[in-house]
Order: sequence, then C-alpha cells, then structure tokens
Amino acid sequence: MEAVDFVILLLHPLVATVFGFWLYRHWSTIKAIRLKRGGAWSRIRNRNRKEIIAEHERQGRWALPAILGVILLAIFADIHRYVNLDAEVSDLFSLHGWLGITLAILTFYMTRTGKRIVKQREEKSSNAKMKGIHQRAGNLMLALLIAVMFLGFLRAVQIIQP
Ligand code: HEM
Ligand code: HEM
Repeated sequence: MEAVDFVILLLHPLVATVFGFWLYRHWSTIKAIRLKRGGAWSRIRNRNRKEIIAEHERQGRWALPAILGVILLAIFADIHRYVNLDAEVSDLFSLHGWLGITLAILTFYMTRTGKRIVKQREEKSSNAKMKGIHQRAGNLMLALLIAVMFLGFLRAVQIIQP
C-alpha cells in the first residue's frame, strides 16, 4: 500500500473520530443543563441557560450534513479499495457500516424532533412529549455512536494490516 492509499483510507476514520467527539460533547452539554453534574456541567455552569440551548439548536442542525460527509468519505475510500486495491465486493460491507447508516437515520430523526420542539415552543403549545422523544432518541444515539466508533477502530485495524 502506498502513502496516498493510506491517506485516502484514513480520511474517513480521522474525520469520523472528530465528529464522534463533537457529537458526544453536543449531547453531554445539553444533558448537563438538567443533571447539573459532571465535566460538562463544570464547563457551562456560569453560562446562561437560554444561550446554551440556542447554541444546541444552532449546532445540532450541522449534525446531519456532518454525518453524511463522514459516510461520503467512507464510500470514497471503499470505491478506491475496490477499483485500485483489488478488494472484493463483500469486503466493502460491514456491521460497522450498517450501524453507521442507522446512526445517520437517527441523526435525521434527532434534527426533525429538535426542530419540532422549537416550532411548538414558538407556537406556545406544549412540547413536553416531543422533548421526551428527542431526549430518549438522543440517549439511544449515544449508545449507537459508541458501538459504531468501537467497531470503526476494529475495521481500521483490519483494513490497514497487510
Ligand atoms: C444530533 C443532534 C442532536 C442531539 C444528539 C440532541 C440531543 C438532545 C438531548 C439529549 C436533549 C435532552 C436533554 C435533557 O436530558 O433534558 C435535547 C434537548 C433539546 N434539543 Fe436536541 N439534540 C440534537 C439536535 C437538535 C436540533 C437540531 C434541535 C433544534 C433545531 C434541538 C433542539 C433541542 C431543544 C429545544 C431541546 C430542549 C432543551 C430544553 O428546553 O431543556 N436538538 N437534545
Ligand atoms: C460517526 C461515525 C461513523 C460512521 C457514520 C461511519 C460509517 C461508515 C460507513 C457507512 C462505512 C462504509 C461501509 C464499510 O466499508 O463497512 C464505513 C467504513 C469504514 N469506517 Fe466508519 N463510520 C464512523 C466512524 C468510524 C471510526 C471512528 C473509524 C475508525 C477510527 C471508522 C473506520 C472505518 C473504516 C476503516 C472503514 C472502511 C473504509 C475506509 O478505509 O475508510 N469509522 N464507515
């Protein structure tokens, strides 16, 4: 494998690792507002609650385009492996990949429910139910993120070794 192949194959894992940490931070910050404990709480305890929620809404809208970008890089790497590195079609699919796509669907759902909470708040109607759905889906998303990241590291080790 040449250096350029390494770069193409490692682009997805590197960008995905940054994305994973960002998503964890995004989730733990909004959680800390209610739980009032942990590392995220000590980071935001002196900040205004409304400002943190507004930041959550603004940054949350980037989660879907970001995860789609992460997946595009993986598809690009897989195409490169198939065309230039003689990989079999069956080598291009993995549990990690399928769970990653499920995570993207859940991200789409998070954006949708998040936007609905905002809309209901603006219309001054009750949004407690939607908040509950958004919060639980967020917890599920975090569990899935940990699984995807862990399997991703294993996949990187498997692909890079000769
Ligand atoms: C992948 C992206 C997202 C994740 C992981 C996420 C996660 C969460 C979590 C876990 C909570 C509940 C915190 C608690 O336990 O009380 C929450 C609350 C909330 N989220 Fe998101 N969210 C995301 C995207 C969005 C988006 C795109 C919006 C709006 C455009 C949004 C709007 C809100 C609002 C308004 C609340 C309620 C805050 C409050 O009043 O306490 N979220 N989010
Ligand atoms: C949000 C996180 C992630 C998502 C949504 C995601 C998604 C995907 C998808 C859809 C594929 C293509 C199918 C396949 O080849 O199995 C893939 C491939 C791959 N993933 Fe991930 N992944 C994520 C994180 C990671 C991480 C953290 C690593 C390693 C540190 C990683 C390593 C790999 C590797 C090595 C491949 C094969 C293609 C390549 O060499 O780039 N992934 N991923």
